Amino acid sequence: MKFHIVTLFPEMFSGILSSGVIGRAVESGMLEVRFYNIRDYTKDRHRTVDDAPYGGGAGMVMKVEPLAECIEAVRAAAPESRLLLTTPGGMPFTQLMASELASEGEVIILCGRYEGVDERVTELFSATEVSIGDYVMTGGEIAAMVMIDAVGRLVPGVLGSEDSAGEDSFSNGLLEYPQYTRPPEYRGLRVPDVLLSGNHSEIAKWRRMKSIEKTRRLRPELLGTALLDKRERMALPEPVCGKES
Ligand code: 6GU
Repeated sequence: MKFHIVTLFPEMFSGILSSGVIGRAVESGMLEVRFYNIRDYTKDRHRTVDDAPYGGGAGMVMKVEPLAECIEAVRAAAPESRLLLTTPGGMPFTQLMASELASEGEVIILCGRYEGVDERVTELFSATEVSIGDYVMTGGEIAAMVMIDAVGRLVPGVLGSEDSAGEDSFSNGLLEYPQYTRPPEYRGLRVPDVLLSGNHSEIAKWRRMKSIEKTRRLRPELLGTALLDKRERMALPEPVCGKES
């Protein structure tokens, strides 16, 4: 999987690219991350990348010319890949989008800075605007790192055991069930007996029920789209109109 990162601050990425699962995947060549510094595509003496917004208002807007030159250079290296623009005003980045990107094999991420990016960049390059949540950050670099991590771990071979992405929160539309490891009792808190029973069908049932309970408590809106069977839906305290599996 190749990530092309268009940014003013490539140095921000050194942590994620050298640590843990993603660091190992970069080292072994399963993930490749290339950087394009927007400032290198300016042509004036001051290497200007931003300017005041037309119409007035606070903050600065990233200029179209250096961005266009930079993106054209990236597209020459990656002609088929999608361009994502990070902005708090974009569509939500989801697990589904992460898995689609992982299967596409290559993506360009433009990290927005300041108060925004000249709208003509989005138009000229058909950028997809994406946000990682309903809050505002000073720039899109951290969002791009979130995407590298979430997409990178879905690339076959990146996670230690191939199936460890299979039971993630969201892979079945529900939050993940609680996990325990040794010791069986700590400060009076016992691991649920069923997990020590060795009865795999009972364990699966318990986990499924815990997933549904937790989702109802923390993210009830997810139950509208998760696939629950009739018995599971009846077991919920209030009727929830999800699809039937
Ligand atoms: Cl993608 N960028 C910025 N600047 N803030 C954000 C965001 C992105 N997603 C959530 N907040």
